[in-house]
Amino acid sequence: MPGDLPASLLRQFAAVVGPAHVLTGDAAAGYAVDWTGGFAGSTPAVLRPGGTEQVAALLALCADAGVAVVPQGGNTGLVGGGVPLHGEVVLSLARLDRLGPVDPDAGQVSAGAGVSLQQVADADPGLDLGVFIASRHSATVGGAVATNAGGLRVLRYGPMRAQLRGIEAVLSDGSVVSHMSGLVKDNTGYDYPSLLAGSEGTLAVITGARLQLVPRMTDPVTVIIGADGPGEVHALARRAVREVGGLQSAEFFTQAGLDLLAEHAGLTLPLRPPTPAYLLLESAGPGAAEDLAELAGDRPAAVGTGAAERARLWACRERHPEAAGFVGVPLKLDVSVPAARWVRLASEVAGVVADADPGARVIIYGHVADGNLHVNVVPGAATAGPAPGDGRHEDAVFSFVASLGGSISAEHGIGALKARWLPLVRSDAERALFARLRAAFDPAGLLNPYVLPR
Ligand code: MLT
Ligand code: ZN
Repeated sequence: MPGDLPASLLRQFAAVVGPAHVLTGDAAAGYAVDWTGGFAGSTPAVLRPGGTEQVAALLALCADAGVAVVPQGGNTGLVGGGVPLHGEVVLSLARLDRLGPVDPDAGQVSAGAGVSLQQVADADPGLDLGVFIASRHSATVGGAVATNAGGLRVLRYGPMRAQLRGIEAVLSDGSVVSHMSGLVKDNTGYDYPSLLAGSEGTLAVITGARLQLVPRMTDPVTVIIGADGPGEVHALARRAVREVGGLQSAEFFTQAGLDLLAEHAGLTLPLRPPTPAYLLLESAGPGAAEDLAELAGDRPAAVGTGAAERARLWACRERHPEAAGFVGVPLKLDVSVPAARWVRLASEVAGVVADADPGARVIIYGHVADGNLHVNVVPGAATAGPAPGDGRHEDAVFSFVASLGGSISAEHGIGALKARWLPLVRSDAERALFARLRAAFDPAGLLNPYVLPR
């Protein structure tokens, strides 16, 4: 509990990181709330180590004292997985910000957990990071690996796990594991980097990663195509995946979200007259413009090739996470279903929410080629309040998704928000295996104890 740590332990922490990097009281408050304001806790101390050996020493002290720890990166998460909701100590990895030189032969780079994704993307003029997310300027390598971040180019490069060529991490007893040589082929035992990706800070504290970079796009072209609904969007996206060789992104959003952004954020609508639904496609390289024009056919479309035009079109999609926030505090549900069921999900989910709460507002958008839909729900007036609410909206959406054979977290993680619904999509045997893995990594249960049920 806040204020409960013995002064002697605080002194030991300070002896490791220096007194300036043990924050308490008001100085710690900003680390105890997520960026949406939807998850707010409290912490007796924020520890800001400056290197892996300091992380190891701090975790060893916490293990000896039986103190629970929440690792925190850029604090851009959406499921409350990086904030101390139960009075845990916060371990901020922000100062692990060393970015190594790019290895030109392998096209790889080693980055500390606190390096932002944008810094990795900027590391080499000819190369880029395959993972591209709206929060890339604040989101950090450690957090993005720990949550297996997805984003806007997963259809081409996969999520963060697919970029991983190595990892360095500290176990809860303070021992350091490191496998950073970056080998593409390396069958020498368990692939624990892959296991730590998506483990949400429950197995180890990630201190660095070896990342594969991808060729930087040349001559990108962005197009927004107007469509009559999710069915047409999905059919076009499926064709694009097959027919547009340089395809990077296939993103879905609706006029309902654009209307909110136009009214409250002054966003310029991409097409006039508006259409009910939109597909944003981005492609690059030779023939990209022709491929996209052929796909759009005679549908209404807006095309951008220059940086400013493309940014204007991308804003229509990238600003969607803000849209529901203009009418209340949204529940941000992030789900995916098998490709063949995505149209049903996108067409019916608002009705499913309305059955549970007729006054709720629902804004949907997402990554159509990945079967991923973001369902942002602002509860009706009778149930309004900070997320999470009384659970009825999650019950409705997650049960529907489970009935379609889908996942209750496509890319944001389980965190604190979704832990109680995990049994909908993971069997008893699977959860028992999770518990055994967790006990092997963290026997005392001190790492992010309330994220993913034990
Ligand atoms: C997105 O696709 O925009 C992100 O997952 C963020 C969000 O849904 O809020
Ligand atoms: Zn997303």
